[in-house]
Amino acid sequence: EKDGYEHYMLKEIYEQPRALRNTMTGRIDEAGQQIVFPDLQLSTETVKGIEKIYIVACGTAYHAGMIGKHVIESLAQIPVEIDVASEFRYRRPLFKGKTLTIVVSQSGETADTLAALREAKRNGSSILAITNVVGSSIAREANHLITTNAGPEIAVASTKAYTSQLIAFYLLGLYLAQEKETLPSEERKSLIAALQKLPEQVETVLAHAEGIHTFAQSIKDEGHLFFIGRGLDYAVSQEGSLKLKEISYIHSEAYAAGELKHGTLALIQEGTRVIALSTQAELHEKMVSNITEVKARGANVLGIALEDNVELHRSVDDVCLIPSTDALLTPILSVIPLQLIAYYTSVALGNDVDRPRNLAKSVTVE
Ligand code: F6R
Repeated sequence: EKDGYEHYMLKEIYEQPRALRNTMTGRIDEAGQQIVFPDLQLSTETVKGIEKIYIVACGTAYHAGMIGKHVIESLAQIPVEIDVASEFRYRRPLFKGKTLTIVVSQSGETADTLAALREAKRNGSSILAITNVVGSSIAREANHLITTNAGPEIAVASTKAYTSQLIAFYLLGLYLAQEKETLPSEERKSLIAALQKLPEQVETVLAHAEGIHTFAQSIKDEGHLFFIGRGLDYAVSQEGSLKLKEISYIHSEAYAAGELKHGTLALIQEGTRVIALSTQAELHEKMVSNITEVKARGANVLGIALEDNVELHRSVDDVCLIPSTDALLTPILSVIPLQLIAYYTSVALGNDVDRPRNLAKSVTVE
């Protein structure tokens, strides 16, 4: 059932091109011009009336939500607030006007996410669930549903569910923008075309991943590591850091690159390992200067960058290249090497990759 892969996690990493295709299937019209969401009961009038969106989730699903916020705000121009479910429930958020609460959950059974859904519902908010399990509690209690069609995810560390959740957010962002007419149709078309290219580009990243074994060997005895990035790259850094912690048990921290100099830079010493993400053209220069800052203190830096970003290549010790795509879509490609780094480090340490210590696949306690 592992199809010849040593672990479910590796199998699921390699299943991502298919999971992404399946999540797009039936949701883009044949001409590639429009998002059609036959399963989503959101009328144009309802979409136009949404004043605010909350995104609520835990762990990896929360990290997908961070990208979702960025996507929805930039495409559909609706303000979005995002919270971890266990915080949202107890902080008494202000539900004023027409709100839509998006809950994201692979299993659809996470206790805190379900409780947050109920809290939002009690406050009159409409609920949209993004989940991988059709008959789950969260799917049943939501008013609107987007299923991620990633197939069953067995490994505790989430991979294909995360990238499928990102696809769900891209489709949703485009759909809201289309209904609200906030995005010129030409831009929508080119974003849809870029979206449809992603599965193939993920295959390319997977086919060129040999160097990651060696990198994993080189970090397996480290006590701690940093992931740095800005904007979308910061959100992906958080996901990479969580993945590494949960299965390799190595401590790491994800930091917004511009924030380093406000304290964290004190921890960078000779030999400190840093993984720097730089996929956003408009932030390249700023990232190069942050990388220079850590290098000046002796850090050893792996850059995750677009293939055409030559300037970044020169400023790091090692580089892992990803194919070029629309700036909004890079997270789908840049997270792949981070998933593989966590996987191969865990294997190198002899850990139980699919069932890491202290963790459960579905967290039904609060
Ligand atoms: C990390 C991981 C967890 C889950 C979190 C939420 O790899 O798997 O952080 O993402 O427990 O689970 P779901 O999405 O099922 O609500």
